[in-house]
Amino acid sequence: VSEWHDTDAFWEGFQEVMFSRRRWDLASDEVEGVIELTGVEPNSHFLDLCCGPGRHALVLAGRGFRVTGVDRTASYIEAARANLSAAVGQAEFLVADARTYRDPGAFDAAICLYTSFGYFETKDEDLRLLQNVCDSLKRDGSFVLDMNGKEVLQRVFSETSTEDLDDGATLTEERTIGPEWAWIENRWIVRSDTAEKETTFRVRMYSGPELAQALRSAGFWDVELYGDWTGSPYDDQARRLIAVARK
Ligand SMILES: C[S@@+](CC[C@H](N)C(=O)[O-])C[C@H]1O[C@@H](n2cnc3c(N)ncnc32)[C@H](O)[C@@H]1O
Repeated sequence: VSEWHDTDAFWEGFQEVMFSRRRWDLASDEVEGVIELTGVEPNSHFLDLCCGPGRHALVLAGRGFRVTGVDRTASYIEAARANLSAAVGQAEFLVADARTYRDPGAFDAAICLYTSFGYFETKDEDLRLLQNVCDSLKRDGSFVLDMNGKEVLQRVFSETSTEDLDDGATLTEERTIGPEWAWIENRWIVRSDTAEKETTFRVRMYSGPELAQALRSAGFWDVELYGDWTGSPYDDQARRLIAVARK
């Protein structure tokens, strides 16, 4: 049985939940944060790993950066290419798996944003992704990884919530913390007037120190943690776990 993250059914079936209009609108502030927190030079070449339909890659390209976007989901890569042709800038998009994709020394900077990390069954596979990113960076290159931190989840955890989606449907989320706080298990139910669909998936949780340790063992020598895109510290007010790692 394929795991949820290895299936087009998950990524295509719940695309509108993940990539709402509001979510697209957030991308430019997130890119601004990446640029500020890394201090990248203009003209840098970015790797956007697990780029989805290109939210950040398109903004980066529009800001004059060179971008390579990589994602497993072919229809997202096609959408990213189509979105690029309607915009300005330079980007290429490739279908590849983050567990195997690497291009040694090719990039000045890399990003992996919006909880695209923690999917794999083993921590070794998660580590492999980080090692591939590290190998793919030039010396002194920066990597920004943005996910839900374990400490943040513990503080804001709620078992269930419901929100409105763009098209009048609603999303109900049910959450359970797996044994030993290793995983967060999610059930999503999307209801419209005419239909209902649901899915379950789980994501491995990392605390700040666990993520920093994983990045160091993947080969990064310096890791800083932030709690939001404006560079607030990763403390009891943090909203996200954002790691900025240097090769
Ligand atoms: C939550 S989305 C985030 C997309 C994008 N980073 C953003 O912020 O909009 C996670 C993405 O990871 C991709 N993905 C999942 N498993 C992957 C893998 N093994 N290799 C490459 N991409 C993967 C999915 O196709 C999806 O586009």
